[in-house]
Amino acid sequence: MAQLKLRYYPDPVLKQKTRKISMFDASVRKLATDMLDTMYKSDGVGLAAPQVGVSKRIMVIDVAGEDEPRRPVVFINPEIIESEGEMVGQEGCLSFPDVFFEVKRASRVVVRFQNLRGEVLKLTAENNLLCRAIQHEIDHLDGKLFIEQAAVPLQAELELAKQGLNDGDVERLQDQFDQHKAQQAAQDQDGGVISLKTAQPSKVTI
Ligand code: NI
Repeated sequence: MAQLKLRYYPDPVLKQKTRKISMFDASVRKLATDMLDTMYKSDGVGLAAPQVGVSKRIMVIDVAGEDEPRRPVVFINPEIIESEGEMVGQEGCLSFPDVFFEVKRASRVVVRFQNLRGEVLKLTAENNLLCRAIQHEIDHLDGKLFIEQAAVPLQAELELAKQGLNDGDVERLQDQFDQHKAQQAAQDQDGGVISLKTAQPSKVTI
């Protein structure tokens, strides 16, 4: 096992669409093992190949809790074949250290993928961290980043500004976001809106 070098935003490899994998050989097994090693050592629950500079359609996820045995899943050539509902929750990304904000995702997905032997499998995930992680990592494979999926784009802009990842004025953005939250809270009270937030650890890096 070897730890691979993580690529950080705005590394251009993160915006590239990946190539499908057609050979299920030792090199793919080694890549998967090294990606898992890198993910565990970085305290992430998911990692996609572009995040280690490899533009191939492979990602790894392990949503087991800290006290549970590891449950790694390797997804090769994954595609979402069903998607429905909506859930909003905090998300982070190993390519954006210390950046967390709310992201809107489908609340149920069915993903078709191949394992390391090339066998085709299907997996359903609903209203949980696995469901969120699958969507986040597949986006990476399509060259899409979670900043494009922010529930409130202003919040993503603010959190990026705090880490110096854009040239936004943190104080001004914070004021705007606080105003937005106050307005939202008032509207929710008026309309009796049910919160779409789902239970999950508050800060996950995927
Ligand atoms: Ni990510």
